[in-house]
Amino acid sequence: MANVDENQLEMALLNLVVNARDAMQEGGLIEVVVDTVNASPSGQQIAIKVVDRGAGMDLATLSRATEPFFTTKGPTKGTGLGLSMVHGFAAQSGGRLELISKRGEGTQATILLPATEAPNIVDTGMTPSEAAPPSGLLATILVVDDDFLVLLNMQAMLEDMGHRVFPAHNGEDALKILDRVDEVDLVITDQAMPRMTGLQLAEAIHHRHPDLPIILATGYSELPTNHPNVTSKLNKPYFQAELDKAVSEALSSRPRPNVIPFKLPAI
Ligand SMILES: Nc1ncnc2c1ncn2[C@@H]1O[C@H](COP(=O)(O)OP(=O)(O)O)[C@@H](O)[C@H]1O
Ligand SMILES: [Mg+2]
Repeated sequence: MANVDENQLEMALLNLVVNARDAMQEGGLIEVVVDTVNASPSGQQIAIKVVDRGAGMDLATLSRATEPFFTTKGPTKGTGLGLSMVHGFAAQSGGRLELISKRGEGTQATILLPATEAPNIVDTGMTPSEAAPPSGLLATILVVDDDFLVLLNMQAMLEDMGHRVFPAHNGEDALKILDRVDEVDLVITDQAMPRMTGLQLAEAIHHRHPDLPIILATGYSELPTNHPNVTSKLNKPYFQAELDKAVSEALSSRPRPNVIPFKLPAI
């Protein structure tokens, strides 16, 4: 038994399986094995292993594989954020990611997690203020990213925090959703997307809904922080706590609805 965030484990596993698929262009078998290992002095560990017999990695690739934005798949196919996210998730859960790979032979990616005696539903490893969504700030959020894993991951994190999420794969779909759903409180968009970039989308949204906060999630730190159509920026890769903070800040920047002060009737 291991204490982990269920959604994030699912995303981590999905990332590893997609990498295994990408490594086997001609197809093949992907093995997913769950095992317990006795790794004293660190005690018992749960090993979740994804094994492929695909392209494998040479030493240079292997040594950089978990670096954020490192990809060999080309800018339109890879984000280079998959393994960095899996690595971050494992470390955050008190474990680690182990990669064994050989060029031409395949790869074995293992998430090692500390084993626990019994399920501990209360302890999420977060302080209560991190774990509990800020009350009154639960929102409907439109999330836009052309990479389906990043989109899924973002959606999982936001839903964990209690928000309602509408996912969109591109700017055009995002605008269509905005036309149909009028209770959207916040938009979080990727910057680098084909056809319509995040900033172009922000401009189009700002034109129609000038009060709607927009967070630009990007790895390009050279973009101006105070772009007129963007409320704030979120640097990729980010963890749940950073996302939570960015969302709370953006939501509290919204103009407050008119509150009619409650008055005691005059006697
Ligand atoms: N199972 C695998 N087999 C071969 N190479 C892999 C595997 N998993 C990851 N890699 C290498 O590590 C790089 C980084 O992986 P990742 O962080 O998931 O980003 P992305 O998949 O977007 O490229 C990949 O571009 C690839 O070169
Ligand atoms: Mg990947």
